[in-house]
Amino acid sequence: MTFDTHSKLSHTTLALHWIVAIMMITLLTTGVVMSEFELFAIYPWHKSFGVLIILFAVLRIVWRIKNGWPTHAGNYTNIEKTIATVMHWVLILGTVLMPISGFMMSAMGGYGVHFFGIELVANNPDPSDPSKVIPLNAGLAQIAHAMHSWGGYLLIAAVALHVVGALKHHIISKDGTLRRMFGASI
Ligand code: HEM
Ligand code: HEM
Repeated sequence: MTFDTHSKLSHTTLALHWIVAIMMITLLTTGVVMSEFELFAIYPWHKSFGVLIILFAVLRIVWRIKNGWPTHAGNYTNIEKTIATVMHWVLILGTVLMPISGFMMSAMGGYGVHFFGIELVANNPDPSDPSKVIPLNAGLAQIAHAMHSWGGYLLIAAVALHVVGALKHHIISKDGTLRRMFGASI
């Protein structure tokens, strides 16, 4: 297995970064759209891909532990180094905490969780009105909902800042940060 070097990132780092990045951006967008406009048709897809991302997020963390973090591609100032490190931690933790809070919110709220049609947690219909559900634990569901909502908006801001940072390195500092994340040798 090839590890990252300063001049070139491994295929593992590139594949995990871009798979997780595309899934995260899609989940953040669908999450906001479906809850703002109550688009219930999207919910099962959001939940299924939200559960699937756990696999890639865990693989990514294992890979970070084995391989370490990529070294800085350019002449970063100390402030830039600190911001980049904090942002990378926020982003990587977000990929774990968002699926967990989403899962807890749906499961504890009584709505159930299905993974591409496979029942992981059954829903809990109200016997007096089967179109409604009874929460398994309303308090936990509420905490998880708050985490999922606030976490979601925090992550949208973090991703926006991360992309602005990547573009700043490419356009203003003209270093290899962004090109290296697309597989180039720098
Ligand atoms: C990385 C994974 C995930 C991300 C980034 C994500 C992101 C989001 C965001 C940004 C929202 C909108 C929150 C709001 O406006 O209040 C949302 C809503 C929602 N998410 Fe997720 N989500 C993820 C995983 C999951 C999982 C695994 C489940 C359940 C199994 C789930 C279930 C839901 C539900 C039911 C809503 C709608 C809540 C409502 O109607 O108020 N999400 N998600
Ligand atoms: C269009 C969107 C994106 C672009 C252009 C982009 C670009 C980059 C670049 C250039 C780096 C290398 C930074 C360095 O060498 O110091 C990087 C690293 C990283 N990015 Fe992104 N990124 C994007 C989306 C995301 C998203 C949505 C996440 C959320 C999980 C994310 C999480 C990370 C993390 C955790 C790192 C640290 C290295 C690693 O673990 O792979 N990125 N990104």
